[in-house]
Amino acid sequence: MAGRFKVTVVGAGNVGATAAHWIAAKELADVVLVDIVEGTPQGKALDLAQAAPIDGFDVKLVGANSYEETADSDVVIITAGLPRKPGMSRDDLLKTNSDIVGNVTDQVAKYSPNACIIVVSNPLDAMTQVAFKRSGFPKNRVMGMAGVLDSARMRCFVAEELNVSVENVTCFVLGGHGDTMVPLPRYSTVAGIPITELIPQDRLDAIITRTANGGAEIVGLLKTGSAYYAPSLGAVEMAEAILKDKKKILPCAVYLEGEYGINKLFVGVPVKLGKNGVEQIIEISLTNEERAALHKSAGAVQELIDVLGI
Ligand code: LAC
Repeated sequence: MAGRFKVTVVGAGNVGATAAHWIAAKELADVVLVDIVEGTPQGKALDLAQAAPIDGFDVKLVGANSYEETADSDVVIITAGLPRKPGMSRDDLLKTNSDIVGNVTDQVAKYSPNACIIVVSNPLDAMTQVAFKRSGFPKNRVMGMAGVLDSARMRCFVAEELNVSVENVTCFVLGGHGDTMVPLPRYSTVAGIPITELIPQDRLDAIITRTANGGAEIVGLLKTGSAYYAPSLGAVEMAEAILKDKKKILPCAVYLEGEYGINKLFVGVPVKLGKNGVEQIIEISLTNEERAALHKSAGAVQELIDVLGI
């Protein structure tokens, strides 16, 4: 019998440690938690391992400061990097985090040459492009987590507005993970009913604005860092779709080569995730206005890529 899946989570801060928690609680895979801070990944992994008998999950949890233990991971989730502080945009993290993500990717590619990489570090789309370039992996095995989070935020607000189950709500968000992200109400539904039929325009506009500012709202409240429960679970949903070969359609940051008229750039679009990672990029028809908004968002990502010169 084949052994359990193995997932490495790089970064044992709030996002990384919470990702490890979700993976363990779902009994999805053995987890190696890696961080440069001595003791932190080991301590958090040990703490989680001691929670296992209470919840009954049989997965191995290991903490490490280097990458030997991560060898042959099926999926690697990269959360390493600095989070935002109040007043900072995700783009303010560009230079620092690109160095961190680049160095992490070198190690990941060396020890797990067949893994799928899911990037969570910000600025998300640019950091995913860094991981893609540095790993040399094929484009189907490198992706960024943002759309799952952004659409989950919108789903949460829609469910609250209509007092319906979050399970009934599907929301569609395209574009980069930034202020220019493109929520698409036309493709967002409650039990199959377009939300444009259920929510008046002014309330819908408020939900869209709150979604686009979803990360900043939480940074403003926490003051010392950014969101982590929903971001980590977003990455874990992607990992699960890959490990279980679910062929699940999720919005992810992927490398576009002409799709949606965007070239050589990571931007959020709906894709099918299965055992080969990104198995299909799904192109939906957009109105001129929606297409313009998506291109504006892609332009914001391109600016960062130009700064990095990659
Ligand atoms: C957010 C950060 C993590 O959107 O990008 O909460």
